[in-house]
Amino acid sequence: MKINNTAYNTIWFENNIVKIIDQTKLPHQFIIKDLKNVSDAINAIKTMEVRGAPLIGATAAYGLVLAILENNDENFLKKSSIELINSRPTAINLKWAVDRMMNKLINKKKDDYLKEAISEAKNILEEDIKFCKNIGLNGLKIIEDLYKKKKETINILTHCNAGWLATIDWGTATSPIYHAHNKGIPIHVWVDETRPRNQGANLTSFELNEEGIDNTIISDNTGGILMQRGQVDMCIVGTDRTLSNGDVCNKIGTYLKALAAHDNKIPFYVALPSSTIDWDLKNSSEIPIEERNPKELTNIDGLNLKNEIENFLIYPKKSKALNLAFDVTPAKYVTKLITEKGVCDASFEGLNKLFK
Ligand code: MRU
Repeated sequence: MKINNTAYNTIWFENNIVKIIDQTKLPHQFIIKDLKNVSDAINAIKTMEVRGAPLIGATAAYGLVLAILENNDENFLKKSSIELINSRPTAINLKWAVDRMMNKLINKKKDDYLKEAISEAKNILEEDIKFCKNIGLNGLKIIEDLYKKKKETINILTHCNAGWLATIDWGTATSPIYHAHNKGIPIHVWVDETRPRNQGANLTSFELNEEGIDNTIISDNTGGILMQRGQVDMCIVGTDRTLSNGDVCNKIGTYLKALAAHDNKIPFYVALPSSTIDWDLKNSSEIPIEERNPKELTNIDGLNLKNEIENFLIYPKKSKALNLAFDVTPAKYVTKLITEKGVCDASFEGLNKLFK
């Protein structure tokens, strides 16, 4: 997708260096950053220079390429893979990507590690682009059906950033939106601000603007009244980990949006590539929920009068703050899952029909 009318992916590999768009600086500054070793990759994931489940998976894959370039040693590779998996605990894509890379390398000659790792990381990247595009085509049918009935602008509410910036290209939740827009269906997106890190305001609204899609940022508490007033036709969100029973773990606040949608009989869709399905965990209470630094809540970045990014304390100095990054939406509140293979019920049977 585009920034300033130039097409980018969120991550690419060039001359043995991994290039990323530093998302901590968006929307105010567009900075391409070099990751030169595995510590750079781990740091980029931890500090959220890259974020979004599919993108952190791809960054971990390229992190292992960097590890091999740094020190082509099996023990270093194993240590690096554990550190990469632990860099953010909730999104399953990290473990998925690292396991996939390590399975590819196991039993290979040391001399072949680099070639094999570069090729597998590229596969992960290209597959994600293809899967996100297919999610868009599958979700497009849902929007087309709504538009046939309504014949007016379709209002879609989304939470956090599940756009192309969270993937390699297209996005998950935004892919049906981009496809519908390209087909000429009038779309307007309600963008949840998504406190505390404001991925909705800073990233989703930014990328929709760049693609010329009408959108309005709302505070995280506004969705409910818009739904009651009939101003939301559907919700689409992404996910960081979806269990095989259809429970969906996503950015904090997703659950409350799903409850409001359920109460107002508004369809609530979750868009995901299969790399986000956790087939092993049986109970959503076992999903490790990332608890981040309370400073993300008490302090905020903004542009000062000199057009520089500055950080401000916005709460009382003495107050405590709790910063849980994700919550779980039980499957019963999810209308359908939109995947690269098709649309299915948020249930074991639904997912099994498509994937097993
Ligand atoms: O903390 P973040 O910004 O990495 O959280 C991202 C989300 O919650 C996204 O909705 C999710 O990863 C799906 S991305 C396609």
